[in-house]
Amino acid sequence: MRRISVTTPQRSYEVVIEHGLLERAGEYVRELFGERKHLFVVTVPAVRRRWGKKLLASLKHAGLSAKVLEMPEGERYKRLSTLENLAEKLLALGADRDAALLAFGGGVVGDVVGFLASVYMRGIDVVQIPTTVQAQLDAAVGGKTGVNLRTGKNLIGTFHQPRAVLVDLATLSTLPDREFRAGMYEAVKCGVIGRPELFDEFERLEIKKLRKNLPVIERVISQSVELKAEVVSADEREGDLRRVLNFGHTIGHALEAETKYRHFLHGEAVAWGMIAASNIAREVGKLDSASAERINDTVMRLGSLPKVAVRSQNIFKLLQSDKKTRDGAVHFVLPSQIGKVEVVKNVPSKIVLHAIQQLNDYVAD
Ligand SMILES: NC(=O)c1ccc[n+]([C@@H]2O[C@H](COP(=O)([O-])OP(=O)(O)OC[C@H]3O[C@@H](n4cnc5c(N)ncnc54)[C@H](O)[C@@H]3O)[C@@H](O)[C@H]2O)c1
Ligand SMILES: [Zn+2]
Repeated sequence: MRRISVTTPQRSYEVVIEHGLLERAGEYVRELFGERKHLFVVTVPAVRRRWGKKLLASLKHAGLSAKVLEMPEGERYKRLSTLENLAEKLLALGADRDAALLAFGGGVVGDVVGFLASVYMRGIDVVQIPTTVQAQLDAAVGGKTGVNLRTGKNLIGTFHQPRAVLVDLATLSTLPDREFRAGMYEAVKCGVIGRPELFDEFERLEIKKLRKNLPVIERVISQSVELKAEVVSADEREGDLRRVLNFGHTIGHALEAETKYRHFLHGEAVAWGMIAASNIAREVGKLDSASAERINDTVMRLGSLPKVAVRSQNIFKLLQSDKKTRDGAVHFVLPSQIGKVEVVKNVPSKIVLHAIQQLNDYVAD
């Protein structure tokens, strides 16, 4: 078991990571709130079907009763209308300012339920219980919440820190391979931005064997959470420091948008974004060729990625309209060595275009 603290001006809390933790989730929740809290588990059918009984049994065992609310499955329901429907249901079920929500699912559930908790009756408690790699090592930690607008992702949202994050690594056993791998690219990202020993681990491990290797999964998730916890604790609201977490995301987001969010899973787009960013870092002379190669090889050896077939010009235009762009200049998070990144402004357009173009030429093996 690992316990990692997150300390922000808004709130301090723990991320608890353990295989089989769901069975003891009730105890943790009771420790946090006592017996009298009105609890509402919000989840999606796929997660409820596989893991709902375990969570509810453990809450019951701890003397807590909880009601379950379902939201529909998928990124396309990460919308304000879902928030509104859930809020109506909560009200009908008698949820008052003393209620707490348990966000039980992947990043979509975490973002929607976190947002709902931050605005329902001007703010109630939320506990994150993430069940995907992506959510366990990234989305559930740090307090960013939000939903999409028709015109773009995560355009409305809040910062609302959870009371705790309960990570049961056992839940990952039912994830489809592709989802599992996509989340792991974010762990590679953590390696590059600040955990060189984690990066080294990815250079050695085989992703197929990783699925069954619990000690390594625990290490990989814990080290990634530790890194995110450090960054968020130093910079809750995304000043310059928190921006290092966007390594691979500048071009990654543009690839997702250009392909209408249908072609890549988020982590897969980030994987391509990391390759492009390392190539850019090499071109502008920030990173030596050997390290750039290591990053590219490590990303590629995790398994096949959906091919990139985009017009570099389109991606370039999207970069310039990214909400994180300031003064029209695209800022890139670029590695200067494995384990260290910098925010670099004013990368020449030619280099960016070339790096995007290169992605089209990669052949994954
Ligand atoms: N708030 C943040 O800081 C932050 C950070 C990163 C990503 N995000 C957001 O997270 C979302 C992506 O999260 P995600 O990748 O977890 O996607 P997701 O929530 O859509 O989950 C992926 C799929 O896996 C299913 N699933 C979840 N747990 C499962 C389990 N244990 N077994 C089997 N199936 C399971 C889900 O039902 C879904 O079909 C995006 O909306 C992204 O914007 C937020
Ligand atoms: Zn990401």
